[in-house]
Amino acid sequence: MKETTLSIIKPDGVARGLIGEVIKRIEGAGFKIVAMKMVYMSKKQAKGFYVAHRGRSYFEGLADFMSSGPSIAMVLEGENVIARYREMMGATNYEAAAEGTIRREFATDGRKNVVHGSDSPQTAAFEISYFFGALELVGA
Ligand code: TYD
Ligand code: MG
Repeated sequence: MKETTLSIIKPDGVARGLIGEVIKRIEGAGFKIVAMKMVYMSKKQAKGFYVAHRGRSYFEGLADFMSSGPSIAMVLEGENVIARYREMMGATNYEAAAEGTIRREFATDGRKNVVHGSDSPQTAAFEISYFFGALELVGA
């Protein structure tokens, strides 16, 4: 099924010069980039994005990190792109992530794991609308 997902290159990925590396993998997999922008979230905006994690021990630290520098937000379109992009990212815990995945190759700790990807059609709809209006999605 053709679907869309929200991808973020997190502040560590942008600061370390990994934008090209991540986009190369996205294009190499045949995913279509239908929207893209650089965003520098405030802590409040980062908390809003990760609202489902409110109350968790890592929530404050996660919001601090996500508002520590610019990120790249993208909407990707493709067959089963939600699951396939998460597969490309690798497991949340980068030490457990499969060989060759973005997180296994580039993450430096549990929080600084370079990339985000939506985990279901429902979260994708919320996350895409958090950053993009309908008119910003090319060809939608
Ligand atoms: P989560 O949605 O569980 O992972 P994923 O990014 O793979 O969808 O968590 C969101 C982010 O929160 C995760 O990328 C890194 C951070 N995080 C922590 O810092 N500590 C934790 O114990 C967990 C579960 C997540
Ligand atoms: Mg998640």
